Amino acid sequence: MSVAEILDDLEYGPAPESDTEAREWLAQHADGTQLFIDGEWRKPASGQWFDTLDPATGAVLARIAQADGTDVDAAVAAARQAQAPWAALPGHARARCLYAIARLIQKNSRLFAVIEALDNGKPIRETRDIDVPLVARHFYHHAGWAQLMASEMPDRAPVGVCGQIIPWNFPLLMMAWKIAPAIALGNTVVLKPAEFTSLTAILFADICRMAGVPKGVVNIITGDGATGELIVRHPDIDKLAFTGSTEVGRKIREASAGSGKALTLELGGKSPFIVFDDADLDSAVEGVVDAIWFNQGQVCCAGSRLLIQETVHDAFIAKLKERLTTLRVGPPLDKAIDVGAIVDKVQLDRITSLVEQGRSEGAEVFQTQLEPSKGGYFFPPTLMTNVHPASTCARVEIFGPVLVAMSFRTPDEAVALANNTEYGLAASVWSESINLALDMAPKIKAGVIWINSTNLFDASAGFGGYKESGYGREGGREGAFAYTKPKWIAAAKPIEEAPVKLAAIGTEPGFAGIDRTAKLYIGGKQARPDGGYSRAIAAHDGSLAGEIGDGNRKDIRNAVEAARKAAGWAKASEHLRAQILYYIAENLEARADEFAGRLAMLTGERKPRARREVEAAVARLFAFAGWADKYEGAVHRPPFTGLALAMNEPVGVVGIVAPEAPGLLAFVTLMAGAIAAGNTVVMVPSEAQALLATDLYQVLDTSDLPGGVVNIVTGDRRALGLELAKHDAVDAIWAFGPQGMAETFEKASAGNLKQTWCETVARDWNDEAVSGGREVLRHATQVKNIWVPWGE
Ligand code: NAI
Repeated sequence: MSVAEILDDLEYGPAPESDTEAREWLAQHADGTQLFIDGEWRKPASGQWFDTLDPATGAVLARIAQADGTDVDAAVAAARQAQAPWAALPGHARARCLYAIARLIQKNSRLFAVIEALDNGKPIRETRDIDVPLVARHFYHHAGWAQLMASEMPDRAPVGVCGQIIPWNFPLLMMAWKIAPAIALGNTVVLKPAEFTSLTAILFADICRMAGVPKGVVNIITGDGATGELIVRHPDIDKLAFTGSTEVGRKIREASAGSGKALTLELGGKSPFIVFDDADLDSAVEGVVDAIWFNQGQVCCAGSRLLIQETVHDAFIAKLKERLTTLRVGPPLDKAIDVGAIVDKVQLDRITSLVEQGRSEGAEVFQTQLEPSKGGYFFPPTLMTNVHPASTCARVEIFGPVLVAMSFRTPDEAVALANNTEYGLAASVWSESINLALDMAPKIKAGVIWINSTNLFDASAGFGGYKESGYGREGGREGAFAYTKPKWIAAAKPIEEAPVKLAAIGTEPGFAGIDRTAKLYIGGKQARPDGGYSRAIAAHDGSLAGEIGDGNRKDIRNAVEAARKAAGWAKASEHLRAQILYYIAENLEARADEFAGRLAMLTGERKPRARREVEAAVARLFAFAGWADKYEGAVHRPPFTGLALAMNEPVGVVGIVAPEAPGLLAFVTLMAGAIAAGNTVVMVPSEAQALLATDLYQVLDTSDLPGGVVNIVTGDRRALGLELAKHDAVDAIWAFGPQGMAETFEKASAGNLKQTWCETVARDWNDEAVSGGREVLRHATQVKNIWVPWGE
């Protein structure tokens, strides 16, 4: 080709990255890869291997070991043995290990980048410039947490042995997100990469050896979903961390219910990408390219739903189509490629069928032409217009380079469309008006909001979802916390509950003939129980102390509806919430004698002691009033332009099953902590001491608390709690009771993947450091990171 012809044509020539070193590395594993257990390479006990393919060609890259139960047992045993000594090391020693890993990743960065591109099909440009640098950054950042743990988290201990299961879309990066915080904070891990993409995890195991990570601290076992299940069910694992599909996340929630394992889930998404008519449209087009054609759209937070303001809809779509035709699809190792191969044929077929379904639902499909494939799994960048918000392609996570576009008229409509999904992982907002963009950010229910940007990640900023996108954060202080537990738990005893003795139904002494049955408290009003039954509460001596309503499923439904209607509480200023909590405290104190009397009657405690519980409850209300305007977020400064504002947002409607005792202090603690953070609550009080909760109605009524913020349903805690755990409009379930209760509630919570705080050990409700502040507030909030442009 002559120079003149080249200038005329301006087509890119191929710019292949060499794969020589990667092929040499693969050749070393020609007999099949092994499992990394207790610092050594071991053949799988099953003697079985499976093929992993190069998605760009369909050729076999390597044979991967299939771990079975024997291997999982061995890996968990190694991790268990290594955990205490690893945690006992000074933070500095652990920090040095993480730092060494970071340095070695940088040193071997090209090999990692090439193997990742070969194994996953993603362009080398991305593995080289995004995945691998972010991985190194993650280890550097968390080396810092190892060093600082003792001073920054003095009351926290490592969780223990962590089972970590990761997907195939960012194999190396997801591995770093899991392993770095875990080992930094003194845990040990058994990690399973996804079956399509195990290679960089295997290379990483060698890096651990080189970095001097003690044996057993990091164990890498390969295999399919069955291996994952063995990890999930293993009795000697203390925490599970999973990234992958919502479907499997739900299974893991169910399978681990009641096991006491801590759980964080980072699941799917259908994230909105919102373009207002005053946006810089050319920048927004580039944003879309990053949002949905980065990593072939196989990104959990991909901006896969394009919402365009009607006035610029046609102009924007025209620009986008033009840009789409310039995207280059091809072999991942070509440095000039924008879009690589889809990870596997299964995924390619799934994408193809969802696009066809969209077409059959009336969507117009615009695609680039692919060069004839030479055996790989390629899918053209695709734009679907004329899409109805209720259609399958607008709702389901396609997990491919497929964008569905819709239009909206007003910002309110954009919010409604953005939130019209069961997911809540991320959102991008494009507007040149800072007022508009920052007005949208709190209204969108998602864990990450990018203003005039998209797909930005950093180790300092937590990442994770709302709603069915899962719970827990990875990265940031909150991500580090998720790998710790309070120190007091080590010495805590399991909660044991004796069956509650009810008194015989009769007439309350002194009020012959007048029904004084305490009702339920729903929407700020006292309500008769739907079933029309009541329970006779016994005093400590067995006599009748009073009667309460026996709530049922319908009452729970009404209470949840009232709590949802009161959602405006989240927007009340922290100052106002604090004032109301102080006011509740004041009104409780005014009736302290009466409450102490009730407590003494129910428990048989002497009155001065009962009085101390009332005083503690008053102090607790003060504590959360104090916290209401102090549990602030953070401003992160990632190592590139921009700030991430980490905001503590309420979780929503919290269903709370209070412990049996202490009936007043625990109830008040949980209620106050939840509402201080802006949640609304449906509370099920202690059964034996329910009269303390019903006595509170008048305190709440006289304290300016808006109706519906606190709802109280008395009755059988297990039955009522189960209704709350199942209810799709409840965002979190907290329960304090025996293991069986936790198991039932956690299992039921899987439906809408509500957040769970089901504690089965007895905590010290009196100790303000344990029960009076951050610990409750951490459960009462979820962090939203809002990335905003920033100068300098
Ligand atoms: P997946 O959720 O099945 O796999 C993720 C990981 O979980 C893999 O390591 C797998 O071996 C493991 N696993 C599978 N079943 C398990 C079980 N019962 N217990 C424990 N571990 C188990 O994802 P898959 O099948 O590869 O992809 C299916 C769909 O999931 C995709 O089309 C996409 O929509 C979504 N997905 C979402 C991801 C995200 O980051 N949000 C990542 C990967 C997939």
